[in-house]
Parts: sequence; structure tokens; C-alpha cells
Amino acid sequence: MSTEPRNIRDVVRFLRQRGELGLDEIFLERLTREQVLRAANEARAQASGEASGEASGEAGGEASGEARRGAQAERRGVPARAPDHGTARADASQPDDVEISAAQVDIAGLEYSELASVADCCQRCRLAEGRTRVVFSDGNPQARLIVVGEAPGANEDRTGLPFVGQAGKFLDLLLASVDLSRKDSVYICNVLKCRPPGNRDPMADEIELCSPFLKRQIALVAPEVILAVGTFAAQLLTGTNRPLGKLRGSVYTYEDVPLVVTYHPAALLRNAGWTRSTWDDFQLLRQVMDGS
Ligand code: URA
Repeated sequence: MSTEPRNIRDVVRFLRQRGELGLDEIFLERLTREQVLRAANEARAQASGEASGEASGEAGGEASGEARRGAQAERRGVPARAPDHGTARADASQPDDVEISAAQVDIAGLEYSELASVADCCQRCRLAEGRTRVVFSDGNPQARLIVVGEAPGANEDRTGLPFVGQAGKFLDLLLASVDLSRKDSVYICNVLKCRPPGNRDPMADEIELCSPFLKRQIALVAPEVILAVGTFAAQLLTGTNRPLGKLRGSVYTYEDVPLVVTYHPAALLRNAGWTRSTWDDFQLLRQVMDGS
């Protein structure tokens, strides 16, 4: 009989058992990379077809807290659902009803929908020339957790949504292993909103020009916890240039918000040796979210 997990719940149960047993190779010893990615693919498909709260253990006990956050967020102009910056727009052209350029705008003073619109037609740096779409965010803008990644890749540039490629599916799986789902309980964005050509690393001036958008996103979403995935997000938000391997494992603060850092899921897919540390980082994230 096959022991291959068939869906996201099987995989999550499997991961938790491995984690609870303290086993070193949580994902990739008995599950192949292909099996993990196939399960992550199914998770994405299930998440888009299911009623809210399926993958999340957060719902019941935190309902009143969520309602309070929702009311506070609405007062800041933060929508209950991310406006569809990517897929809803039928063509890849820039909106023509926004005449002010990002270079002229005081980004720190914008409301949520203005911020997304200004980002959408930003020409601040060279990345504007090569992009198909600006990748602003996905998930729930009223979430307690913001996940900050590095920059869009090819799939994200095409769809306008962050973390939709293989790394994104893996991220969804890691989040599910600690009862978090992109659809309900997480807001996802990147340090850079436009794809660097050939997926090269972000350049320092690009980060400097783009980071006011991220800073404002964080201020408006007002998360209770931030997770930085990968070196660029971790270094930017901790304000250091220490390597990720030295940064991870501690809880920092960004503008008074607790911040956990971990490896980028794409790096993890290339280097299974970081799996145990990543698992520990997600447990730390869960503890911070639970206030324990
Ligand atoms: N990697 C990232 O850091 N962000 C994305 O949106 C996709 C891949």
C-alpha cells in the first residue's frame, strides 16, 4: 500500500508528527520534493475552492479579536479582502486614472487603496521598465501576520500576485503546518514590488526606493507579528546585514511589532539541510502569535 500523503491535511499531520518526534529531516526524508510540491499544489487548489477557515485553527477562539482588528482596520481604510491587484485586471497596462507618479507622492501619508494604486504605476526605479505587473500583495489585509518575501519571480510578474510559483506553494504548506492560511490569516507581500530581470538579487538602490511602500503597507495592515522570509527581507526589517543563518532563531521587533525571520522557501527547496531550522522558526512564529 502506498504511504504517499494524498492531500494537505495528510501532509500537515505528517509534518507535525515528525516535528513532535524531534526528527531532523521533517519533509524530505520520507517525502520526496515532488510529493511535497504535489501536496502543496493540491493545498492551493483546495484553499481556493473551500469555505474560509478550513486550514486554519485560528477561527473560533479568536473570533472577537478578529472582529476588533477588522473594525480598526476599516477605520484605516484597509479592506477586508485584498483588492485584486493582479488577476482581476484583464490587461497588463497601467491604470490611466492615476496621474500622480510615485516619485511625487508622500507614500507615508497614503491610505491603503491609494498606496496600491500609486505602486501600480510606480516608475521610481529601473525595474518598472521590465515588469509585466506590479506585485503588491495577496491574502488578508486585516490579518494578524504579514509575511514579507524578497521580490516577484516570473509567475508573480505574470499574475500580479506574490508567491504563486513553487516557492509560494511550499510557503503555503509551511504556513499550514502551523495552522495559518494565506486566504484567511496571512497577508503576503515583498520587499520589491517588481521583478528583477532574470530573478537576480535586488539591488541596494531598488530596495531603498521601494521600501517606503513596504513600510506603509506594514503600518496600514498593522500586523501583530511579521515573518521575514529570506535574507533581503530579514536584513531590511532587522536593520542589519548579518547572514540569515546568524539572524534566525531570535525574535526581533520592527516598529514595535514582533518579527521572526527564516529561510526563503526557494532556498529551502534547494537545501534540505535547512529544514529543521525552518521548522523551528515556524514553531517560534506560532509561539509568538499565541503569546507564549
Ligand atoms: N519569491 C519571493 O520572495 N517573492 C515572491 O513573490 C515569489 C518568490
